[in-house]
Amino acid sequence: MSTARKLVVGAVPEGAQDIGSASRAVREMFTSIAPRYDLLNHVLSFNVDRLWWHRTARTFAYILAQPDARILDLCCGTGDMTFALRKQAGKSGPRLLGADFSHAMLERARSKSRDKVSPDDKSAIPHWIEADALCLPFPDQHFNLVTSAFGFRNLADYDGGLREIVRVLRPGGECGILDFSEPKGVIGHLYRIYFKQVLPRVGAMLSGVRGPYAYLPDSVERFPEPQEMLDRMRSAGFREATWTPYTFGIAGLYRGRK
Ligand SMILES: C[S@@+](CC[C@H](N)C(=O)[O-])C[C@H]1O[C@@H](n2cnc3c(N)ncnc32)[C@H](O)[C@@H]1O
Repeated sequence: MSTARKLVVGAVPEGAQDIGSASRAVREMFTSIAPRYDLLNHVLSFNVDRLWWHRTARTFAYILAQPDARILDLCCGTGDMTFALRKQAGKSGPRLLGADFSHAMLERARSKSRDKVSPDDKSAIPHWIEADALCLPFPDQHFNLVTSAFGFRNLADYDGGLREIVRVLRPGGECGILDFSEPKGVIGHLYRIYFKQVLPRVGAMLSGVRGPYAYLPDSVERFPEPQEMLDRMRSAGFREATWTPYTFGIAGLYRGRK
């Protein structure tokens, strides 16, 4: 095991030495696949990702129904989780912020906004902000809800990321982290064959780059098991923390209340 793997509790793409180089490698990786990210996502997940985003958005319906609530979708990428929140909130719902540190991913989100939200309804268009989840440009106690879909696992420092989320949440505010997990039993066996053998090959073929789709199963394997992640959430300052498995535990929603 390399020194970086022992010191950093977070994503460690191949060759990364520390938090800074791991973050840069993650950003470069997503920037390199940004043009084909959506297509690959839907093909490789058989479109189940859409169900997961919508289920997560439904979980927070009561916050999204408050027009003056402040909502942040962290690691928003090309914006699909943000758009699911938008749909759940409806036209009169609160203004949404989507934040990501890859400019190319945000550009895709911006151009999708034009198709997804009517130009007559400018206030429904999310704000897209280039920001690092480990050092957010927002004041303390600002948001009622922070979500992150399939992004948190890529942070180079999980505890640092959780502390930032707690910092920007209002007391009583909620956080929803949707991410992959490793299912157990027969489903787990089939899933591992697909995730480790099939997905990296198909991903590399369709995207033209090998790294990101080899990194994906590795990052899921390194991500803490639900019980450990819940302990980390409590240590970071969440009063309540729960995990709900989605689709046999292939993914799941971590929910925390400050
Ligand atoms: C797998 S994509 C998920 C995108 C989107 N949320 C979705 O569900 O499709 C992960 C995203 O996390 C972003 N990301 C990773 N680390 C980040 C960090 N430290 N700060 C901000 N964004 C980050 C990447 O740039 C990428 O767009």
